[in-house]
Parts: sequence; structure tokens; C-alpha cells
Amino acid sequence: MENLQKFFKNKKVLITGHTGFKGSWLTQILLNWGAKVSGIALKPNTKPSLFQILGLEKKIRNHFCDIRDFKKISEIIKKEKPEIIFHLAAQPLVRDSYDNPLYTFETNIIGTANILQAIKETNTVKAVVIITTDKVYENKESGLPFKENDKLGGYDPYSASKAAAEIVIGSYIRSFFNPVDYNKKHKTLIASARAGNVLGGGDWQKDRLVPDIVRAVFERKEKIIIRNPKAIRPWQYVLEPLFGYLLLSEKLYQGKKELCGAWNFGPKESNYLTVEQLTKTAIKILGQGSYEIKRDYGKHEARLLKLDSNKAKKLLGWQSQLGIETILEFACDWYKAFYGKKNIIDLTNQQINYFFKSWL
Ligand SMILES: NC(=O)c1ccc[n+]([C@@H]2O[C@H](COP(=O)([O-])OP(=O)(O)OC[C@H]3O[C@@H](n4cnc5c(N)ncnc54)[C@H](O)[C@@H]3O)[C@@H](O)[C@H]2O)c1
Repeated sequence: MENLQKFFKNKKVLITGHTGFKGSWLTQILLNWGAKVSGIALKPNTKPSLFQILGLEKKIRNHFCDIRDFKKISEIIKKEKPEIIFHLAAQPLVRDSYDNPLYTFETNIIGTANILQAIKETNTVKAVVIITTDKVYENKESGLPFKENDKLGGYDPYSASKAAAEIVIGSYIRSFFNPVDYNKKHKTLIASARAGNVLGGGDWQKDRLVPDIVRAVFERKEKIIIRNPKAIRPWQYVLEPLFGYLLLSEKLYQGKKELCGAWNFGPKESNYLTVEQLTKTAIKILGQGSYEIKRDYGKHEARLLKLDSNKAKKLLGWQSQLGIETILEFACDWYKAFYGKKNIIDLTNQQINYFFKSWL
């Protein structure tokens, strides 16, 4: 771990989607570790937003830019000359993807192609980790955990857009960044990362369970509404997949060309809980709140999704460690502190330090 922190010191890292939930945590970690961070994203679309709370705009080289705009993206990447890129920018919501399928496809597929093409037109980038999702697999709800080589699919436009992004990534790897040609025709190694639903402080995105719980309990003082109580989700602490992305990028940077391609970063088996179980546990930890079920049959959402993360365990030494109670305690502590007007930057850094210490 110490080595990982040292590795990032003074590295030039570009994060797309740095104004979002996962991107803000990743930016804060990299700043703490002494990296030189730049970011490409839209302005934060939630109020409050973790990006604003942490004051990240002033701490990094910030670019508010749409990833669908190839010309601008390419100019920024040429200007910033990053050595490592984490691509997180996306339209990340299943339910929104039903309302805005074309925007979702453009952002998640063409946006990803734009980033890859812009990388192709520079020679500074050594390692790229592109974040897709556990929803990229064709999900027949068999209950078996998905392995990286399983068939891609996607029922809703979000899942399909991310599966299509995986195909674009695979094509760029084979056609332009083939590991066989590494250090001969190019110097860039690329991987994609698939993780499940993440939890942690600082998420206010709509249509997500913990933000919905937090808004109902702390802001609206009303009942939490859950739509899909029996849906089983792989819950994971936000820092766990981020740790996986960081480890993977380090190894790619070091030239481990056999690590190009897709990676699952799933939670512990015991963290597969239904939406209703998670809501009950969060209410218990918060010490307040109640819920009501309002089923929504209008929009299909997959009920069962499991990931097999043995590849990451074997080849990166990565595995999810935190149980759901601990994860919810981290998240609930964070929101309680925020709404209690405590020093949230300190708490965020304490949670980062605490999490990464367990890997020493
Ligand atoms: N949060 C989860 O549980 C989860 C689970 C699986 C995968 N993911 C993936 O992780 C990534 C980050 O998710 P998040 O939860 O932080 O989402 P988020 O909504 O909090 O952040 C999304 C980020 O993408 C940026 N973005 C969106 N459209 C853009 C565009 N057209 N141009 C430029 N930037 C754009 C936003 O500005 C923001 O910075 C996404 O790729 C998402 O699909 C998230």
C-alpha cells in the first residue's frame, strides 16, 4: 500500500467524471497521495455535491467539458499530457437511460471512443482504466457469478451502452493498443473495470438507494420510498473498487501488458442484500427513518447480479474486505457529520486513511 501511495506521488493523472461521486473520492485520494490531478467532466449535477464540499475545483486542473465533444477532449488531453487516465464520466443511471436513451448511448459509447481516440493522438498516456459496470453482462438471472469472459448484453439502455463501450474498448485495444505491439508501436496499456453498486458518504445522485434514504431522513423528514424491495444488489464501499482501479493502473503503468482487458471488482458474497434488507440496516444504524414500498413495474431493473472477482484476487491481490454493516456505518457517519455541520473534509480524509491503512 505504501508503495502504491508512493507510486502516485507527482504522477500526472487525468480523471474524467471527477465532479461525480466516485470521481470526487478518487480525486481526493490522489491529491492526498501527491499526484498532479486534472479532470474532465460536466459541472456537478447534484446539490449538495461532494466535488463542491471538498473544494476540488481549486485543488486540481479543472476542465468542465462534454466528453461527446471530441475536439475539445483531444485538446485538453494534449495540453494536460497525463501519464495515467481514469475514465469515469458517464450517464450512470439505469432509470434515466429509459428517458434519454440517445444521450446515454452518445455519452457512454461515443464518449468512451472519444477518450480512446484522443489518447491515440498523444504519446504521453501509459495506463488507462475505463470504468464500466457489473451490468455489462447478459443477465439471465441464473444466480451464477459473472466472469470477465462471459457474454456481454444489457437489457436497459444504460447496461447496453456500457456493454457497447466494452466492445469499443476491446476494439481499440486489439486494433491500436495491442499488448503484442507494446513498446514497439505504442506505449499505452488499457483495461476496463466492472464493479457493482457502491455506497459511501457524499452521494446525492437521484434514484440511488442510500441518497434516497439520506434525502428522506435528513432533508424531507418523510418516509423512504423503495421500488424494488426484493432486488438483490452487490453492495460495496466506494473506496473498494477505487482501490482496485488504482492498483490496476499502477501495474499497467509498470508495463504488465498481460493485465490489459476486463476486470471484475465485486463485493464479498455476504454483501449481497436485497434493497429492503439494506434499507432496514441503514435505518437501524441511523437510528431514525421508516420506509414504504411503492412498486414500479414500468422500468425493468435486473433483480440478481453477482460478480466473480477471482481474477483481481489472484493477479492484483485485491479483494473486497468490508461487510455491509461497516460500509453503512462509514456512509451514515459521513452523512450525519455533513448534516450536523461537522468538518467534512477532515472526516473524508480520515475515512480514506482508515480504509487504506487496513491494506498495510
Ligand atoms: N455509483 C455506482 O454505484 C456505480 C456502479 C457501477 C458503475 N458505476 C460507474 O462509475 C462511474 C462513476 O459513477 P458515479 O456514481 O460517480 O456517477 P456520478 O453521476 O456521480 O458522476 C458521473 C460523472 O460523469 C460526468 N459526466 C456525465 N455525463 C458527461 C458528459 N456528457 N461529459 C462529461 N462528463 C460527463 C459527470 O459530470 C460526473 O462527473 C460511471 O461510469 C458509472 O457508470 C457507478
